[in-house]
Amino acid sequence: MNPVEIIIKKRDGLELTDEELRFFINSYTAGKIPDYQASALLMAIFIRGLSPKETLTLTRTMLYSGTVIDLSHIPEPKIGKHSTGGVGDKTSLIIGPIALAAGVKVPQISGRGLGHTGGTLDKMESIPGFNTKLEIEEFKKIMKDPGGLIIGQTSNIAPADRLLYSLRDVVGAVPSIPLITASIMSKKLAEGTDGLVLDVKSGSGAFMQSYEDSKKLAESLKGTAEGFGKKCVALITEMSQPLGFKSGNWFEVHESIDILRGEYIEDMCEISFALSGAMIMLGGKAESIEEGVEISRKLVADGSAFDRFLAIIKAQGGDLDTVKYPERYPVSKIRETIYAENSGYVSEINGYEIGMALIELGAGRMKKEDEIDHKSGVYLKAKVGEYYKQGSVIGYIDCDDPDKLESAHKRILGSIKQVEDKTEKPVFIKEVIY
Ligand code: URA
Repeated sequence: MNPVEIIIKKRDGLELTDEELRFFINSYTAGKIPDYQASALLMAIFIRGLSPKETLTLTRTMLYSGTVIDLSHIPEPKIGKHSTGGVGDKTSLIIGPIALAAGVKVPQISGRGLGHTGGTLDKMESIPGFNTKLEIEEFKKIMKDPGGLIIGQTSNIAPADRLLYSLRDVVGAVPSIPLITASIMSKKLAEGTDGLVLDVKSGSGAFMQSYEDSKKLAESLKGTAEGFGKKCVALITEMSQPLGFKSGNWFEVHESIDILRGEYIEDMCEISFALSGAMIMLGGKAESIEEGVEISRKLVADGSAFDRFLAIIKAQGGDLDTVKYPERYPVSKIRETIYAENSGYVSEINGYEIGMALIELGAGRMKKEDEIDHKSGVYLKAKVGEYYKQGSVIGYIDCDDPDKLESAHKRILGSIKQVEDKTEKPVFIKEVIY
């Protein structure tokens, strides 16, 4: 087959056959097709899209470019979760331990910060000693006991995705529904789960900003999961302002610890409990998501979810004292207060802008090789729907470098809009797709 003919076919909006997609992706992964041709095909897919059948074939090819983990030696239900990415989105840290406490095993292959969004791996690595680079044998061992973990994509999990992903990132082909679907599902299907809960973010802090696009992405992901015989529930959730109060790596771990110890932060808790409720239901430990939510609340209140969090940290070599005594964590050299610029109701906190400000602070990467400053971050207590008087305190920024701080501070202030008329607090869970 000739790669150019495949590119031309997609460029002209025609459907590719299974053989053509398989040939192209496998040859690229094997280094037999150069980046420039793969970039051209990615851009053609970005513009022309893929049919559900093509999306399934692309996913299957990317999935079987590597190992699919076999967890059939574990009799308990195994349910995965995936978020399409957001700002302040620490739900993975909370729902894994809750589902585990409910008797559902939770393998999580997570990512690093991507674009303006934060990554679970970067957050977990803010805990000294926590090892996210486990090989498959270790993965299987931890999946037996304690039964939950958070690791990165190893070299043998969906290598085609790793190659294609870094290419998409630099040629402007990230926010494409079929490409995101194949990328996410090729990793998730490799986890060896029985089912999957999807948290599809919608709003200014998400890759899909409009509700319509988020819904299309949710349907594409769910259709693909079910095409592989996996049970799947997708939730479309609010991401038009950062989730919770704290954004940044250690900031988010700290907030997760507080929540697992019983603190109630409305948007974080409502979304996390709905997701863990769905996992508990898919794992057969509740009849409905609502019952799963009630179970989740109880498991947080009685301390068993926090106990499972500690078990995961211990199994992956993390320092338990850091988690037990988060107040002892090193702090940044500077803490700068954020004051409301105007008087009025908050109508918007642009999540994308906050995400980019976090990158400027060092909490994310500008270049692939950048080191993360785990302790830098933003605490923003202001939420859409609340009233603040000009000059009142709405949060703070932690950072070591005064230059970075100044520019990020401006960006954060610019992201917050206040208006005279009362605004409504957003709906946190926009839709549940069964
Ligand atoms: N997360 C992924 O793993 N891949 C994408 O393409 C987008 C989000």
